[in-house]
Amino acid sequence: MLSDKLQGAINDQINMELKASYLYLAMSAWCDARNFLGFAGWLRKQSEEEYAHAMRFFDGMREWGGTIRLKAIDEPTQSWEGLLELFQSVYQHECKVSAAINEIYGIAVAEKCYAPQSLLQWFVNEQVEEENSAHEIVAKLEFVKSDPTALLAIDRELGQRTSAQSPSE
Ligand SMILES: [Fe+2]
Ligand SMILES: [Fe+2]
Repeated sequence: MLSDKLQGAINDQINMELKASYLYLAMSAWCDARNFLGFAGWLRKQSEEEYAHAMRFFDGMREWGGTIRLKAIDEPTQSWEGLLELFQSVYQHECKVSAAINEIYGIAVAEKCYAPQSLLQWFVNEQVEEENSAHEIVAKLEFVKSDPTALLAIDRELGQRTSAQSPSE
């Protein structure tokens, strides 16, 4: 059985993943409205992936006998100065998520609560990938600045993403 503290942290994490899903969906709409269809498609896949993350914790809570408590999701930011600022926000959000996952893992370890630790380890690995992929896009956007040919090349490249990325399990 999970402690109240651990259950609270996992419920907060379900909320954080759903918030990320909602934010990335808003970002996808913003890119789509500006005809950056590759960026829009990438963010939409990312939004789906965040939903899947929320559900991994949701199902974990079911298995571990925890009590699921869903919380409010605020309206996400819906305007950005440009693609660079937008992807900087993605990267910052992923860093915040990594810190939150580490925090939960720390609670589970401190409480010698072993059941959720393999899922938490999966999330630690996942966050390494999430931070890296967001950072890579930020670096490319910083490099090309507003060169339209280069931006369209990145847009095409990101549009080739076919499914949610996930580290090997
Ligand atoms: Fe996530
Ligand atoms: Fe993420």
